[in-house]
Amino acid sequence: MTVLVVRGGTQVSGSVVGPGDTSISHRALMLAATARGTSRLSELAPGEDVASTASCLRRFGVDIDARGSSATVGSPGLAGWKEPQGPLDCGNSGTTMRLLAGLAARLPHEIVLDGDRSLRGRPMERVASPLREMGADVRTDSGRPPVRVRGGRLTAAHVRSDVASAQVKSAVLLAGLGSRGTTVFEEPQRSRDHTERMLSALGAPVRVDGPVVKVEEFEVPPFDMRAPGDPSSAAFLAAAACLSGEIRIEAVGLNPTRLGFVEWLERAGARIRWEQSEETMGEPIGWLECRQSELSALPSPDAARMIDELPLAAVVATQAQGETRITGAAELRVKESDRISAVCRGLSALGADVSELHDGLVVRGPTRLRGATVDSHGDHRLAMAMAVAGLVADGTTVVTGFEAASVSWPGFADALRDLGADVAEQDSR
Ligand code: S3P
Repeated sequence: MTVLVVRGGTQVSGSVVGPGDTSISHRALMLAATARGTSRLSELAPGEDVASTASCLRRFGVDIDARGSSATVGSPGLAGWKEPQGPLDCGNSGTTMRLLAGLAARLPHEIVLDGDRSLRGRPMERVASPLREMGADVRTDSGRPPVRVRGGRLTAAHVRSDVASAQVKSAVLLAGLGSRGTTVFEEPQRSRDHTERMLSALGAPVRVDGPVVKVEEFEVPPFDMRAPGDPSSAAFLAAAACLSGEIRIEAVGLNPTRLGFVEWLERAGARIRWEQSEETMGEPIGWLECRQSELSALPSPDAARMIDELPLAAVVATQAQGETRITGAAELRVKESDRISAVCRGLSALGADVSELHDGLVVRGPTRLRGATVDSHGDHRLAMAMAVAGLVADGTTVVTGFEAASVSWPGFADALRDLGADVAEQDSR
């Protein structure tokens, strides 16, 4: 167990390249693993979630030679994947489990997807049900993992999801690549669109019309790709700078479906700028600069476009003038932790004025936070959001269970220290 000790009141400043994008890294590895031949990937996300995807793919006989943030993927193509013996361990990663379920549905093997305690508590019928509609035999344990999949040649379906979810959408699209007919996926709002962008860049017949995506059968060719920096990881540094400091983040992904948080910061009065400089596999990449700013409270942000940043938005809201209401975010209750309850508990311990709603939370600011001991609840985004809160709190904040940050950004504490923050990771055993 690791704790992060944060001494408040320092400024963060400098220029940084954050870790590669987790969502894109999962997809790059999975698509490369379905392609017959060799693909070369670089700047992949360093966290445990993406390592879980790589280790599951190896169990199908895919050769993944990972060196640092690069990987060479050699595959016989999806049709040549062998049947894994025993369950695949998806660790803490919902993206690994849900997207792999979509690929597994195309195989005639018995594939069991399992994960850690947190993942075992997360809802899986949202992927099981559309994959069944497409003809796969998918079983869950009362809606939760383990997920057992036996599939084969599928038939396209028109799937209407009641939740906006890129994981469900991607599972359906990946299954759709091996289905007879046109697969249609429709969601209430458009979720992150990395799968669609990568597939289009690879020449797949994908059509996007707002929150409706259509795909036809397609064999993915091998490819080379450099992943952009992760805007959801960069968000922690951007928030820290807006609260106290000045930062420039290079080579960060600027996909519009991921920019909800920086746009929200901008509307709250943050001095924040970004600009695209290049593109890779249909993904815009550029720089992002943020400076300490006077912030004012905002009505409910667009939850779907900043779902992973909402705990951090709550932290920022403690320093903004007025009442920030985050609503329409019930999904936060079924993430790596119940993020609504976890963030309310953490911020309350630090002295924030925060109250819980069934589908979000209300934060009244600004409040002077006081250092305290807060817990990550085993959730990477909570661990890092609480560290950012500690930077603006008086005195010392201790984040317990800080090892959870490794799920997406093992070097987060080092990055903060390099930017001038007074943080130290300590072994708590
Ligand atoms: C992800 C989609 C989102 C997000 C998760 C990563 C993805 O989940 O919260 O961190 O890579 O597709 P949902 O699809 O459940 O919204």
